[in-house]
Amino acid sequence: MKPELGVCYYPEHWAEAQWKEDAAKMVQSGITWVRIGEFAWSRMEPAPGQLELEWLDRAIEVLGTAGLKVVLGTPTTTPPRWMIAKHPDMLAVDAEGNPRKFGSRRHYCFSHEGYRDESARITKIVAQRYGQNPYVAAWQTDNEYGCHDTTLSYSDAAKVAFRAWCAKRYGDIATLNEAWGNVFWSMAYSSFDDLELPNLTVTEPNPAHVLAFRKFSSDQVVVFNRVQTEILRANTDADLIHNYMGRILDFDHFDVGEDLDVASWDSYPLGFMWDRMELSDAHRARYLRQGDPDMQAFHHDLYRAVGKGRWWIMEQQPGPVNWAPYNPAPLPGMVALWSLEAVAHGAEVVSYFRWRQAPFGQEQHHAGLQTPDGRDAPGLGEASKVAQILTQLGEVQTLQSEVAIVFDYPSDWAWNTQPQGADFNYFRLVFSAYRALRRAGLSVDIVNSKSRDFSGYKAVLAPGLATLEPSLVEAISQAGALAVLGPRTGAITEEFSIPQSGRPSVPHLDVMVDLVETLPPNAGRAVKDGGKVDFWLEKLSGSAPVLLALEDGSPVLMGQGDRWYLGGFADDTAWDRIVMKIALQAGLATCVMPGGLRRRMLGDLEVLINYEAEPMQLGEQQIAGCGIVIRRGDEVIAESDFSTA
Ligand code: GAL
Repeated sequence: MKPELGVCYYPEHWAEAQWKEDAAKMVQSGITWVRIGEFAWSRMEPAPGQLELEWLDRAIEVLGTAGLKVVLGTPTTTPPRWMIAKHPDMLAVDAEGNPRKFGSRRHYCFSHEGYRDESARITKIVAQRYGQNPYVAAWQTDNEYGCHDTTLSYSDAAKVAFRAWCAKRYGDIATLNEAWGNVFWSMAYSSFDDLELPNLTVTEPNPAHVLAFRKFSSDQVVVFNRVQTEILRANTDADLIHNYMGRILDFDHFDVGEDLDVASWDSYPLGFMWDRMELSDAHRARYLRQGDPDMQAFHHDLYRAVGKGRWWIMEQQPGPVNWAPYNPAPLPGMVALWSLEAVAHGAEVVSYFRWRQAPFGQEQHHAGLQTPDGRDAPGLGEASKVAQILTQLGEVQTLQSEVAIVFDYPSDWAWNTQPQGADFNYFRLVFSAYRALRRAGLSVDIVNSKSRDFSGYKAVLAPGLATLEPSLVEAISQAGALAVLGPRTGAITEEFSIPQSGRPSVPHLDVMVDLVETLPPNAGRAVKDGGKVDFWLEKLSGSAPVLLALEDGSPVLMGQGDRWYLGGFADDTAWDRIVMKIALQAGLATCVMPGGLRRRMLGDLEVLINYEAEPMQLGEQQIAGCGIVIRRGDEVIAESDFSTA
C-alpha cells in the first residue's frame, strides 16, 4: 500500500471561478484525494423535488480533471429546512423530552421512517448520477454518526421501533419480564405496547431496560447506514466509507463497519485533550500543543479493526479548532507528526479538515490549510512535507502485532448504565491498559469482541468486557496466547444481571469475585512493591496462584496457566508492572519509552514518534521535538524535524 493525502473541500462555499485554482494548488501540495458534498443537501435540492446538481457535476469535473480522486458524501447529516416542514416529527428528542431543533446539523432521529426514506431517496439520486463517474473513487455515508450526542433519541418514532425491536428479540412479554428481572419493584409489563423508553423515570430505570435500549439504538444506526450502502452498492464499485470519531462509543462501530469497505475517523488531537480525556493539569499543560501521546494511536488501532484492516483519517486537525474550551495552535511539526503517525499505524489516506478556513458559519475560527483570505496556513507546509516523505517511503506494509486488546462497545453502554463508582469508565480502563503496552514500546492491535480468531497473538487483554463468553477464552487459548481478563470482565449477563455461575466464571481458572467496591479519587489502595489500585477493586478468592497482591496481602492479579485475572483498576505504575509480567510470560520484547516518545512497527520499519516539545533520545538515536524518525534497523529512511523551521 502507498499512503496518500487528502483534503475536505466545500465547493458550495466558494465562487466557482476559484475551484480550478484551488484544485491545482491541492495537487501541487501533494494531495491526491478530496472529500466533498456531505453538507450540501440544500444546494442539491433547494426545494422538495427540485434538483440542482449541475454545480456538483462541474465541481467534480474540475477536481477530477486536476488529477484528484473525489470522495463524495451523501448529504443526510444536514437535512434542509423544508424537510422539517415536511416531517415535523423527524427531529431527535433528548432525554428530557425536548425536540432537538433545526439550525445546526444532525437534526434527525435514526428511527424516523419518513426521514429514512428521504435519506434513501437522496442517496439514490446521487448514487445513480455519480456511481459510474470516473472521478468519484470513494463514498462517505452521512457524517460522523453519533456526533453531538445524536445516537439516542427518545422520540415517538424511537418508541414504536423499540417496541418492535423488543418483540422480535424476546418473542413474548413474559420472556422480556423474566430477562429483565421485572419482578423487582413491580415493573412487569403485560404487552410490548406498554413499553416506554427509559427516560424521565422517577429514579434510575431498570439497567436491563437501558441496556436493551442502547443495543436497539445502536442497531438503528446500523440500519440507517445499511439503507445507504445497499443503494450505493447497486450503483458503484467504489469503496464505501464512514467517518467515525474519537471516543464516541454510542453505537457499535464494528456492526456499522460490516457494511463498509473502509473505516475512517476524524482526528482532532488538541480538541480531545479538553473534552474527551481524563488528564491531570500537568499532563494537559505538557502536551497542550501536541496532543496526548496515545489518544490518536488508540483510535488508529481501533479503526484499523473496525475497517477490517483498511482505514483512513478522513479529517485531520490542521491548526487550531474552534470547538474546545481552549483552542491552542499545534506546535510546529505536529501536523506532520500526526499525519505520519497515522501512516505508521496503517492509514491508507490522511485527509485534512479543511482546505480553506470558512469565513462564515459556526466554524469560522477553525483553521484550514489556507486562511479565509486564501493565504497558506502553517498546516499546508507540513502537509507538503508529509507528501514528500510519503513519496520517499513508497510502498509500506502493516503487520499483525503480537499483543491485542479486545474492544467491546456494549461494555461501554453497560458500564455507563451502572458505573457503580463515578470514575469507572470502560474506555478509560481499556485506554489505561493500551497506554501501558505502548509505554513498553509494544505495537498493539485492537480486536472486535465478536472475533474468535486470535492466531498470531502472544497475549490478549480483555479488560472490562461486561459479558464473557467462554468461547472467547477458548479461542485465545487455542491461539496459544495468554489471556489477561479483568477487572469487571464477565461481570454481567447479556440481560444485565449477575451470572448464576458467579463471576468472572473463566473456564479452567479458579478465581472468584466475592465483592466489589469503588473508591473515590485519592483513596486508591497500594499494591505491594509499587503502584496502586484506583476507582474499582474486587475481592478475589480461589486457588489460582497470586501474581500481585495489595499491601494488606489480598490478591489483585491471579493466574493459572494461560489465564490471568486482574481484580482492580490499576494505576500507571501497577499497569507497567503487570505489562512486564505479561511480556515475560508471553515472550514479548519490550523497550521502555521515555516520556512522550512512542514507537510503532510498520512492516520492517520502526517509526519513532516524539510527542515532547524537546528532543528525545532512544539509545543512539535522537528524535527532534515534535519530530518523527522512520528507520530500518539503524538506517534512517526519513524524518520530520520542524524544530528549526
Ligand atoms: C468534525 C466534523 C466536521 C467539522 C469538524 C471540525 O466533527 O465532521 O464537519 O465540524 O469536526 O473540527
